[in-house]
Amino acid sequence: MKIHIINGPNLNLLGKREPEIYGKTSFQDYFSEMQMQFKSVELSYFHSNIEGEIISELHEADDNVDGILLNAAAYTHTSIAIADAIKALETPVVEVHISNVFAREDFRKHSYISPVVFGSISGFGLRSYNLAIQSFLD
Ligand code: DQA
Repeated sequence: MKIHIINGPNLNLLGKREPEIYGKTSFQDYFSEMQMQFKSVELSYFHSNIEGEIISELHEADDNVDGILLNAAAYTHTSIAIADAIKALETPVVEVHISNVFAREDFRKHSYISPVVFGSISGFGLRSYNLAIQSFLD
């Protein structure tokens, strides 16, 4: 099984960025841990701070992988274009958030992504990614 992770803006700063919310582990380190844990899964990941690049990556991943994990970060709350891109895909997408977006500012409670994905996982720290991969395996 092939699962592709797409991370949006500022997630390249994980480990340094607001560690009280997002933790102290870099995504690269966590990704290596997940690769060790899910040996039967071909995991890959892509990061971009640019909305259009995330959209192009979604288009490219379609048909090449069995599932996509998308943490669109702040674009979750703003991007109709990313939501439209997801609607055009055949591949199932799971929305992932590290923090519990429902326990934070009001503007984070709305997601353009949630209505167009297979499911959403939020609030388990970096383990949200782990749970999303497990959901594909299940
Ligand atoms: C986030 C939550 C978003 O509201 C925020 O803009 C992020 C990260 C999360 O993973 O908790 O950048 O998607």
